Amino acid sequence: MPGFRTLVWLIQLSFTSAAVLEERSRGSHDADAVFRPVGLAVGTGYSSQTSTVKTFKLNAASSFATIDYGAERAGWPFFDVLKVDRPLQIEIKYSETFPDLQLSSSDGPYPFNVGQANTFRVETFNITKAGRYSSFLLQGGQRWQSIQLLTDGAITFRNVGLEASITTVEPEKLPGKFSSSDDVLNEIWNLGARGTIASCVDEGSQRAVWEVDSKMGVHITNLRPAQTTKAIGFESYTLEFDAFIERGGIWWSVAHSFGILGGFHLQLVGELPSATTFVNTNKTLTPANTISLAKGYAFVNQTSVTSYLLDTFKVPFSVKEKTWYRIKTVLDPKGFLSVSINAKLVFKATLTNYYSGGGSISQSGSFGFGAWQDHAAYFRNVVVTDTANGSTLYTNSLKHQKVLAEYGTGENLASVCLDGPKRDRLVWLGDFYHTSRIIGASTGRFDHSTGTFDFLLKSQIENGQLSISPNLGYDPSIASAFAPTGSYFLEDYQPLGFLSFYHYIRHTNDVAYARKTWNQWEKQLNWLLGKISSTDGLVHFGSAFLGGADAGSAVSCVSAETLYAAADIATTIGKKAAAAKFRESANALADAINDQLWNDATGTYGLSTSDQSAFTVAGTAFCLTSGIASKKQVASAISALDDLQLGFGYKDSSNDDPETTDLNISPNTNGFLLPAILAAEDWERASELIYGVWGAMLANPETNTGASWEYITPQGEPGLGAYTSLGHPWGGAATYILTEWVAGLRTADGVEGFGYKNWILSPDLGFHMGLKHASATVPLFPSGQISVHWEIKKNGQMLVEVRAPKSLKGVFKLGKTKKTLQGKSKYRFTV
Ligand SMILES: *[C@@H]1O[C@H](CO)[C@@H](O)[C@H](O)[C@H]1NC(C)=O
Ligand SMILES: *[C@@H]1O[C@H](CO)[C@@H](O)[C@H](O)[C@H]1NC(C)=O
Ligand SMILES: *[C@@H]1O[C@H](CO)[C@@H](O)[C@H](O)[C@H]1NC(C)=O
Ligand SMILES: *[C@@H]1O[C@H](CO)[C@@H](O)[C@H](O)[C@H]1NC(C)=O
Repeated sequence: MPGFRTLVWLIQLSFTSAAVLEERSRGSHDADAVFRPVGLAVGTGYSSQTSTVKTFKLNAASSFATIDYGAERAGWPFFDVLKVDRPLQIEIKYSETFPDLQLSSSDGPYPFNVGQANTFRVETFNITKAGRYSSFLLQGGQRWQSIQLLTDGAITFRNVGLEASITTVEPEKLPGKFSSSDDVLNEIWNLGARGTIASCVDEGSQRAVWEVDSKMGVHITNLRPAQTTKAIGFESYTLEFDAFIERGGIWWSVAHSFGILGGFHLQLVGELPSATTFVNTNKTLTPANTISLAKGYAFVNQTSVTSYLLDTFKVPFSVKEKTWYRIKTVLDPKGFLSVSINAKLVFKATLTNYYSGGGSISQSGSFGFGAWQDHAAYFRNVVVTDTANGSTLYTNSLKHQKVLAEYGTGENLASVCLDGPKRDRLVWLGDFYHTSRIIGASTGRFDHSTGTFDFLLKSQIENGQLSISPNLGYDPSIASAFAPTGSYFLEDYQPLGFLSFYHYIRHTNDVAYARKTWNQWEKQLNWLLGKISSTDGLVHFGSAFLGGADAGSAVSCVSAETLYAAADIATTIGKKAAAAKFRESANALADAINDQLWNDATGTYGLSTSDQSAFTVAGTAFCLTSGIASKKQVASAISALDDLQLGFGYKDSSNDDPETTDLNISPNTNGFLLPAILAAEDWERASELIYGVWGAMLANPETNTGASWEYITPQGEPGLGAYTSLGHPWGGAATYILTEWVAGLRTADGVEGFGYKNWILSPDLGFHMGLKHASATVPLFPSGQISVHWEIKKNGQMLVEVRAPKSLKGVFKLGKTKKTLQGKSKYRFTV
């Protein structure tokens, strides 16, 4: 994003001079780099019934403003205060849905990872004078915002907005396009496009989340502890540091995993003087002069991220703000954890007391520093010693910029795609599958695809695996830090990650990139081959997201699909022996799957050899899309799906009990299923699934973010509670499906189709949906595009128009009609 750094500098400048900012922003940089609200409601409470945005006033009679950005947006919040009649406090919240905005923590917090964003969705400001106010930390994904006046007085606002941390381009303006006679389908196409816009970020666009001062050390606010890379193997250590509470308290962690698992969390809250303590401070959660001890990710639970508050200890004296204290934490190999402040012991806890079943709690893992919601603090002069013998393990003044790289808190290191914009801000390997395909159909940001692959490939470990979820801020080549248990455990993310690379190559035919990275991919594929048992010929993983890790159909079929895909890429880059090897392995795996996993009684592929009667969406999807099923098996497996039908989609497994309250429909796995249903030419079923699952994301204006969802309940609500991501491109498969099967423009199968050298225009699904017209454009690599348009005329004939580079060959297919399109750059005909 050109001019981005200027923008950041201007925001910082604005702390002192709002007038200067306005002057410069008009002159020197792109006003598009700001997200503005589309709706505003001012009143006595939250309201989703918003009207025109204008200057507004909050006072005792009317203390709430609800702000609607219209769709998923991301950036650094700012607002201008025009007038304020006395010092007062306001609470600002952000959320993806309107209902969650009303929760006391809104739809956060997100202590799962640092993610170069605010851990919290609530922040409080002390307003003393007119001018511009900005947040230091970005809010990665929201449609809604509220501003509540917490104290007496009156305040007038204007220009509430977000300095964009992502591109501000709207889905309709992307290089890839789709439109049709049905507006619902057009909005469905936008879902995946907008999820991808919000989740794929440019290098350096997510700025540093710690500030470093050469005297005071690191300054931290509103952020969960970030761990150092230098203490990964540390065990039973003593950690000492200086801390200076600017407001509230300090948060730190010890014996903390470096991957995505948690550790011990400690929080010291100061005396909370009334002059500097916000009136909304939760003194039950953060009582004055205490240290809280927790295990997990934080001191509160947030849906699927579990934390255990183990104890809260009283500090035997008053802890002052703006005063340096020496904090000492001892992990004692005899099973104790103790904390002293200025050499006075606050507590010594027996860790085994916190396990009802006894046993020991691990004392190994890294440490880190953070600050709770609305807290701010400095940390410096860290010394770590071995508790048993006192030898020094680590020292760091925390006064140099290089701490940002060590603690993973600098700006994002590469152009990559995250799982979701507001949380789960990690570069998930297996979840990139749909995103990679959506990029081809919509944003055309192929640099985001190769940026993501490059980042993941840097995390490759000796055995060939890539990290399943590297962080934005750590150099991924420190992979051993995450291995083996850290972020390598979902083994099916390896083939899913490879398939996202395959789809990139299929779309672009970027042979140079395939050649450049092939050795690493081949190493990953060889790891995969090692997972095929010589006894039964099936894939045996230790754990798998798709289920049935050990000799299951989903993991075996996704692996077969991967090996066929690998053979195609190897062929394209002239690696004949490798191509033959992968194809033979895929064929053998296919035979083993059909021999051992097909169940005649259920008429589909069994979950695994140990549970033949159950079956899954993912197993059905990959056993069909890998092409290993016969025509008869395909038809039978598709009709067996009826037993998985739940609400408007399919539940993941026949073992899932629909009575379970937390059962969700996964747009991710239902997305894997769509191409399988289409390959079976079950137009009715495909149409119902698209309108069902993706239509549900649009149905309620209070939960619609205009972007694709992570999970949906069978009732059509966001799944996983407030925590869930409603900007997840992994749930956006309908986007490329509409381009490829409704407008009907896709590559031909196999190597011949790479880069659209041979393309197909086959709008069967759109035709069967009864559309009057549909159009699509796909961006080509490195440049160019193909555009198609068809419409049904009054006489029932279909008029077809195509523009494509002359060098590419096309075939039009609809039902039994077939027409070759080659040698021209424009085609127009009726059928
Ligand atoms: C807000 O700022 C005023 C003026 O600097 C100060 O007196 C007051 O203590 C501050 N309040 C809080 C909660 O920080
Ligand atoms: C304050 O924190 C406690 C403990 O986590 C929680 O039960 C309570 O709901 C919180 N109160 C508010 C207003 O958030
Ligand atoms: C979080 O939930 C778990 C149960 O899932 C519970 O044991 C634990 O006490 C909860 N933690 C907090 C901080 O409430
Ligand atoms: C202290 O203990 C650590 C870990 O057991 C060991 O590696 C180190 O050599 C010891 N140092 C001294 C001075 O004994």
